[in-house]
Amino acid sequence: MKGIILAGGNGTRLYPITQSTSKCLLPIYDKPMIYYPLSVLMMAGIRELLIITTPQDQSAYKRLLGNGNQLGININYAIEPYPRGIAAAFMIAEQFIGNNTVSLVLGDNLLHGEGLADILQQATQLQEGALVFGYYVDQPERYGVIKFGNQQEVVDIIEKPKNPPSNYAVTGIYFYDNSVVAKAKQLQPSARGELEITDINKLYLQEKKLQVTCLGRGTAWLDTGQPDALREASDFIAVIEHRQGLKIGCIEEIAFKKGYIHLDQLKALALPLQQTAYGDYLLRVATEKNNYADN
Ligand code: G1P
Repeated sequence: MKGIILAGGNGTRLYPITQSTSKCLLPIYDKPMIYYPLSVLMMAGIRELLIITTPQDQSAYKRLLGNGNQLGININYAIEPYPRGIAAAFMIAEQFIGNNTVSLVLGDNLLHGEGLADILQQATQLQEGALVFGYYVDQPERYGVIKFGNQQEVVDIIEKPKNPPSNYAVTGIYFYDNSVVAKAKQLQPSARGELEITDINKLYLQEKKLQVTCLGRGTAWLDTGQPDALREASDFIAVIEHRQGLKIGCIEEIAFKKGYIHLDQLKALALPLQQTAYGDYLLRVATEKNNYADN
């Protein structure tokens, strides 16, 4: 399975913060935002990746992550000339996807929780259809919202409904079979002028090929679309990291523990960061044995 991180868009809801910088490069506590969705795909075991950015921001992402070989993964880059909606990612990525299945993660989504790695790894086994995740939120009207039938089956997904039919939002990580590219090509822009990921999911639903897994309350799903959400995400990461002394979204640690890189490579990554708590942490990971808190 291939993986796409969508880091395009102009981040207008965060202006003036994002007027001159890409949203997914903003810090979430101690690391750039994109580390979190990247770490999610790496935990899922996906090592062939495409990062989609605006034309002006691509070089910054390349400076940060390069070709990914230092992490034992392959990172490719593509440009979204202007924002057309999330579903446009599959047309931009058509060649990259080739004949494969694909996962898309939004560059501003954070997922953290017990057992998540297992759920994600299982999701990558998908051969046919689509798999998305539902998550109970307080303000579902900000998202794609799931409508359930009497048997708790999914009957509809509605993008930003004024009267949400449930509290279950569709999170920003999606798993698809190869027909997603053809499906994206047949979409028409929505009322807000976007090619909607919700419309793709509805096409799968019509084919009875949409699987929805609801994540429990032990999982944290945060997005960072607005200033308060940005601060809350930073606070959340800081609180957990301080309490445990373990980092969330540490791509070097994940690369090492997944066996994508070996010890010497991890130490080499730590070296230029030696003056920071992040670098100290990487050295600790390199020397620590038997850490059972790895899920
Ligand atoms: C997008 C999708 C929405 C989904 C959300 C997850 O919203 O359109 O269905 O629930 O991402 O973050 P947008 O970022 O376009 O407001």
